Amino acid sequence: MKDSTPQPTRLADYQPYPFRIEKTDLTFRLDPKATRVLSRIRFHPNPARPGRHDLRMDGERLRLIAARIDGAPVTARPDETGLTIPADALPDGAFDFEAEVEIDPSANTALEGLYMSGGMYCTQCEAEGFRRITFYPDRPDVMAPFHVRIESDMPVLLSNGNPVAQGEGWAEWDDPWPKPSYLFALVAGDLVAVRDSFTTRSGRKVDLAIWVRAGDEDRCAYAMDSLKRAMKWDEDVYGREYDLDVFNIVAVDDFNMGAMENKGLNIFNSKLVLASPETATDADFERIESVIAHEYFHNWTGNRITCRDWFQLCLKEGLTVFRDQEFTKDMRSAPVKRIEDVLMLRARQFREDMGPLAHPVRPESYIEINNFYTATVYEKGAELIGMLKLLVGDEGYRRALDLYFERHDGQAATIEDWLKVFEDATGRDLAQFKRWYTDAGTPRLKVEEDWQPGDQGGTYTLTFTQHTPPTPGQDEKPPRVIPIAVGLLNPNGDEILPTTVLEMTEERQSFSFPGLATRPVPSILRGFSAPVVLERESSFDERTFLLAHDTDPFNRWEAGRSLARDVLLSMIRDDAAPSEPHAQALARLVTDDTLDPAFRALCLRLPSEDDLAQALADAGTTPEPERIHTVREGLATYLARQLQKDLVRIYEEMETPPPYSPDAASAGRRALRLAALGYLNRIDHGARAASLFASADNMTESAAALACLIDGGRGAREIAAFYERWKDNRLVIDKWFALQVAHAQPDMAAQVAARLAEHPDFEWKNPNRFRALMGALAANHAGFHHISGAAYRFYADWLIRLDPVNPQTTARMSAAFETWTRYDAERRAMIRAELGRIRQTPDLSRDTFEMVSRILAAEKA
Ligand code: PHE
Ligand code: ZN
Repeated sequence: MKDSTPQPTRLADYQPYPFRIEKTDLTFRLDPKATRVLSRIRFHPNPARPGRHDLRMDGERLRLIAARIDGAPVTARPDETGLTIPADALPDGAFDFEAEVEIDPSANTALEGLYMSGGMYCTQCEAEGFRRITFYPDRPDVMAPFHVRIESDMPVLLSNGNPVAQGEGWAEWDDPWPKPSYLFALVAGDLVAVRDSFTTRSGRKVDLAIWVRAGDEDRCAYAMDSLKRAMKWDEDVYGREYDLDVFNIVAVDDFNMGAMENKGLNIFNSKLVLASPETATDADFERIESVIAHEYFHNWTGNRITCRDWFQLCLKEGLTVFRDQEFTKDMRSAPVKRIEDVLMLRARQFREDMGPLAHPVRPESYIEINNFYTATVYEKGAELIGMLKLLVGDEGYRRALDLYFERHDGQAATIEDWLKVFEDATGRDLAQFKRWYTDAGTPRLKVEEDWQPGDQGGTYTLTFTQHTPPTPGQDEKPPRVIPIAVGLLNPNGDEILPTTVLEMTEERQSFSFPGLATRPVPSILRGFSAPVVLERESSFDERTFLLAHDTDPFNRWEAGRSLARDVLLSMIRDDAAPSEPHAQALARLVTDDTLDPAFRALCLRLPSEDDLAQALADAGTTPEPERIHTVREGLATYLARQLQKDLVRIYEEMETPPPYSPDAASAGRRALRLAALGYLNRIDHGARAASLFASADNMTESAAALACLIDGGRGAREIAAFYERWKDNRLVIDKWFALQVAHAQPDMAAQVAARLAEHPDFEWKNPNRFRALMGALAANHAGFHHISGAAYRFYADWLIRLDPVNPQTTARMSAAFETWTRYDAERRAMIRAELGRIRQTPDLSRDTFEMVSRILAAEKA
């Protein structure tokens, strides 16, 4: 470890900063190796912290050239983490602090602060990157208007806010909206703009620009269109207008995350901007649309109203994810989007919540905040907003949001503020609801049923019991309020009770439905109304019934999903044969032409190997990765044979005529067609995949066909051809790396990964490239967990290598090991050894140290 004992930061220790900032002025004299940053910050005493206080500012890896207070030099010596000017060296009242520091962007491989990517300068300041740019109170509750001057011979010079002046070799920007330092951004480079404009509903004309490298202009249209739709949607649905004259987006190749909502100057990982039919898949297009919207929506939920401290991260992220999910539902198919979101939630957040990395949506302490940009904060955080909306109703939600914007605009707020707004706008008491923010873990919901026939009709009763297993540091889990959406069907398949939200508040609670002619079939947790695990024994027949008749599309899909899961689990555990009735039910569904193709495609998707491992571990069986793999492959091949005729017909009928269009309907047809291909590929010796690969005019089909060929142990020629065609396109070559590893046979995965890591194009310092290869290995469940341990070793070797270069990405990727306690003693011993080896690495970053320590701590449990 670099710092001997990293100290946790605690929510309970929060104190306001002793000073407020009236104005922040920055001048950048850019130079790749020696950039000078001049700052002038106008401080005032903060009445919230009476008395005299030292001026403590954060700062890391900065060379201090000079510092002044009100123009007079001060001798201040920075330490490892910042600079302190003692209270007695400060004037009473307001004062100016000025500093000149030197930084080295070209040496910045961590991609936090000011760094270089592909010859351009760019910044990433969330969460604590600004302290690598200059001395500053680098915390979200210190907000200030910024004025920025950039001096550089780069042709394009950008910062936050509105452009105010520019000349040969310089430009000035002014951002009138007070903001915390994490929203600061600067870009300087040889870039070209794709331009458009948007007129807000009150008539402000906003110049929109997407800045890319020359040659990439023709891949920005979808991002631009998405932006304009997002701007319009936020006006229509939330009444929120944009508030500057310009909105700039910059695409960069080296980026740790997806994208960043810097005020007026969003910076994006280029994979979330650049798309053309030939280079991007349908999934890429959909993701671009949603992330462009997400970052734009942050302008209100995150920027105008920000977080008091980083414990409140879900205040902006949960809400903004919820908003981008709603947006996608309005742009595309709502049920399909809901299913996709729940699949993701279960695969990533439930997995996190059940393991050693479980933490509350609002954590109470952290060592490195970068480690808390998690599925729990983001995706579970969004689920909490969805539950609130269900509980208070659509109108209550809108009133609460209006009040939130009105009351907290310009502030740095907390989850308490957020909940208070809902209480004040709707009169509800949300004390119990708050547990969703403070308590980690996924509740288990058991259901019992009772039917009492009677003269006035029978009474049907549902009794629910909730229980949340302990999580690290939290043993006691009091009951939470759970909104349970239910509907009832009669045996003919007619809905006799439309969706109704039951509010469960007790540990055990019953709800009765009197006056029913016959015993109903219940449809429980419709739309996945709460992020819980529903534990309900239900018969095969009941689930095929719901699969055929449920009026709630989510639960209809869920019925099929749970059928497939149970078939797989009994094949794995009891050597059972595949189920013919399951195959028949599936066939009926996927051939139902009244259903959306995208929905049918989702119904064809089997639970993943990781899902199955989790389900087994949950039920007390140690998962065997190779067995899971073999059985799942076996079921897929069985279904391919059983459904062959239908699948062939689907494959033919769902062909989409050129030209390619990324719209939801066409994408849905392709998804269904490619799902059919995935099955048929098991019995046609790769014939369809080979011919599709040869004829495809779009990346969706090329990539899927190539994956099929690799799955079947074929495709050497196609892999080579794909490389030749795309070797100059980084984003496509990322796919080339990922596909080969993700689809490698389990006993070959580590070898394939190791061979590709030797490839001259494996630029491992680029996070996208590193994730393409290593992320694909971690996602190849049977390959990663192969009993040789080769993948564990290889993966750990690379984490150790990346850590000194890029701690943030290393730490995130160490989560591949978070499920380790699920497995057998031999695998556990191997993983423990690798985790131990990582932790022992000299000078390990505190990011990775914290993650690996938390993962290892699962041992005791
Ligand atoms: N705030 C960004 C988002 O969710 C994510 C991010 C976090 C990006 C930290 C970079 C660094 O939109
Ligand atoms: Zn976000």
